[in-house]
This record gives sequence, structure tokens and C-alpha cells, in this order.
Amino acid sequence: MNKRYRRTIIAGNWKMNMLASGIKPFTEELIPLVPDFHKWCETVVCVPFPLLPEALRVFKSYRIRVGAQNMSQFESGAYTGEVSSAQLMDIGVGYVIIGHSERRELYGETDMTVNKKVHAALNGSLCPIICVGETLVQREAGVTNNLVATQLKSALYGVQVDKPHRAVIAYEPIWAIGTGKTATPDDAQQVCREIRAVIRSLYGAHAARVIPVLYGGSMNEKNAPDLLAQQDIDGGLIGGASLKPASFAAIINAANPF
Ligand code: PGA
Repeated sequence: MNKRYRRTIIAGNWKMNMLASGIKPFTEELIPLVPDFHKWCETVVCVPFPLLPEALRVFKSYRIRVGAQNMSQFESGAYTGEVSSAQLMDIGVGYVIIGHSERRELYGETDMTVNKKVHAALNGSLCPIICVGETLVQREAGVTNNLVATQLKSALYGVQVDKPHRAVIAYEPIWAIGTGKTATPDDAQQVCREIRAVIRSLYGAHAARVIPVLYGGSMNEKNAPDLLAQQDIDGGLIGGASLKPASFAAIINAANPF
């Protein structure tokens, strides 16, 4: 499997942090630290909904892509508090995180809702960043591969063969998210390879070669080089460290293969 065929993606997930007024100072600190980053990776920052317009405005001149952290599975209608894929596309958002473990654990999102959201994103022009990952209990029980495969197959259920190429998969072991614990590069690589095998079984060798698989879970400037060097890890989904320009920059630079 050759990494050259795939985009490298470094995606920040700001979760419910930051204010619109902080985006410009963040960017002005980040950009000098990552000269020419677009030569080796696509950098995405997924921000809270109210910050999307300011993120789009500020990031545009620096070629940083903007993502949302969630969206509705429904097209439109009486869904108070929800945001649709059309509304995200309308203002120029390109990416959306779907099925993050915090959505699954805190807001009851199931594999079925994740699947509907993936369809909604791919029916439009959004790139869904589909999150999968196991709890510590599941890892210790030895069911990680099966569980991740089931989550991924459910998320992509019914997605036509010509559609998944725009998707990005993020392997995020739940026990590593926000905990400072990281999967070892070998463990992360092993699960990401399994994810690629699932993609191959569903959509064939070409899809498996081109769909990026990211690792997420306490990725930081120290562990990023080893994680990003793995054969089947094409980037990162980064929470805490993406809020600190110096740390985020170091991770972006660690993705530079040259
Ligand atoms: P973390 O979060 O990097 O803070 O562990 C990752 C994520 O939740 O996507």
C-alpha cells in the first residue's frame, strides 16, 4: 500500500472551545510556523457552528480548510437546534466530523444515525470525517478490530461504490481521547490497516488506496512523528493540541515527508 496515493490530512477539532475573536490571533501565530504546509498536507480546522463564518473568512487566505463538528441527518424541517448539510455547504464549509465518540457517548448517536449523516454529507459535497474507535474495556476484551469494522461498515452502509472516495476515516480509541494516553504507533497502525482492509472489502483496491485514514487521541508534537510515519496512518484528528498554535504547527510539520 503506497501512501503517495492518499492525501495527508491534519485536522483540528476545537470542540466547544475558542471564540470568534481568537481565530485571527491563532492563525497569525500558526502560519509563520508552517511555511508552505499546503505542499505536503491539507490542514482542516473543525470549529463550533457560530465560529464557522469567521473561520471561513480568516482561514481562506491561508488555505486552511474549515470543517463543522456535527450536522443533522435530516435535509430540512422542524428540527430545532440542528444544522443541515445544505446550510454548511451554503456558507462554504468543506468538512464535517461525523460520529465523534463524544457525540455517540454524550448525545446518544448510534451507528444508524451516523450512517444517515454520512449519506447526507456524501449526497452533498461535504467530506465526512467518520470517527470509529473502541473503549478501554473493548480493547482489553480483544474486540477492537471487530468493533471498528462493524462501526465502519454501519457508517458506510448503503453508500454507493462511487461515493466513498470523498470520505475520510478517523480511528480514535476512546480511551486515548483527551486523556494524554496515546495508542502506540504499532497498535494504531494495526487498527488503521484493518480499517483499510474493510474499505477494500467494501469498495475495492482503488478506494482502499485513496481514502485517508487518520489517527486521533492525544496526538501531540511529541508522538506525532512516530504515528504519522506509519504506513496506514495518513494524518491526524487533533483535539487539545489543535488549540495551541505551536503544538498544532509541530504536528503539521511532522506530517511533512521531506
Ligand atoms: P484529543 O482529542 O486530541 O484532545 O485527545 C481528539 C478528538 O477528540 O478528536
